[in-house]
Amino acid sequence: MRATAVAPANIALIKYWGKKDPVLRLPENNSIAINQSNLYTTTTVEFSEEYKEDQVKIFDKNNDIVDFVKKERVVKHLDRMRKMAGVNMRAQVVSKNNFSIAAGLASSASGFAALTVAGAKAVGLDLTEKELSILARQGSGSACRSIPDGFVEWLKGDTNDTSYAISLYPPDYWKIAIIVVVVVAEEKEISSTQGHQLAESSPFLSTRLKYIKTKTEAIKESMAEKNFNTFGELIEAEALELHAIMLTSTPPLIYWLPATIRVMRAIASWRNKGVFAYYTIDAGPHLHIICKDKDTQELTARLKQIRGVENIIINKPAEGTRLTHKHLF
Ligand code: DP6
Repeated sequence: MRATAVAPANIALIKYWGKKDPVLRLPENNSIAINQSNLYTTTTVEFSEEYKEDQVKIFDKNNDIVDFVKKERVVKHLDRMRKMAGVNMRAQVVSKNNFSIAAGLASSASGFAALTVAGAKAVGLDLTEKELSILARQGSGSACRSIPDGFVEWLKGDTNDTSYAISLYPPDYWKIAIIVVVVVAEEKEISSTQGHQLAESSPFLSTRLKYIKTKTEAIKESMAEKNFNTFGELIEAEALELHAIMLTSTPPLIYWLPATIRVMRAIASWRNKGVFAYYTIDAGPHLHIICKDKDTQELTARLKQIRGVENIIINKPAEGTRLTHKHLF
């Protein structure tokens, strides 16, 4: 059978960095994220006796074939589904991203979420949202957060069955926007999977983990109260803390580029003049700027003026992963 799913990329506000169990992808801490409306992956999966081996084709927004996603990682995920369903059929997988995935904009989250939902349906499994999130997590940790709607929390758990994401609020809960600022980047970065392995080498990881629960609770409280400035200050501090861990790992991970810092400084100076926006940054040089809906246009115009800014993608909070009838083959 053939099935197709569309999955959003999510941006983490409390980051997943460091794994308690790298095989099951159990994280050190809970994380919080928002699913995004304008960064998504569509994937069609078909299992059939006709296929002699698994075929995987991934395209980016220009319809260029993406060759750096390891086919073995996708096949391993198909194996998980085959095992659950008790079948042995091979599959054809075609995946298309609406963004340039080399840019490091969380392609593994939307990619593995779409693969999970399409693949599970295609292989004949009937899974709950929780079960889909657990399955997606094993492909890529952050993918479990792309399954539920809107504002989400990944409950770290301590076994395979207790580590999954839930929706905290639906997408329309809070009228905010996420402006993705893509900066001009030449080299491919160290992947997040490789980066996670270095987290423990930072002398500051243990301190981070000591306070992370308090910080997570504080962010959740600011969301419950819709206290935008407290929320923004907390997520920005969290992004800087993630990068402090990265900078102090052995070897150090330095993801920022000059343009990244130019944007960070501009955001801070605009706040001093009354335009309130806050940034967060993942394992790459690009930024996600969180602002109130009404400030989106003004901020976009200003961000475009900054040297080294290549592209701007405006997002709203979005639904999680969905099945669709628009198959790719
Ligand atoms: C910095 O989910 O990409 O974006 O589980 O190895 O696939 P794997 O890692 P991944 O790590 C994401 C790291 C991050 C922070 C976050 O999204 O929480």
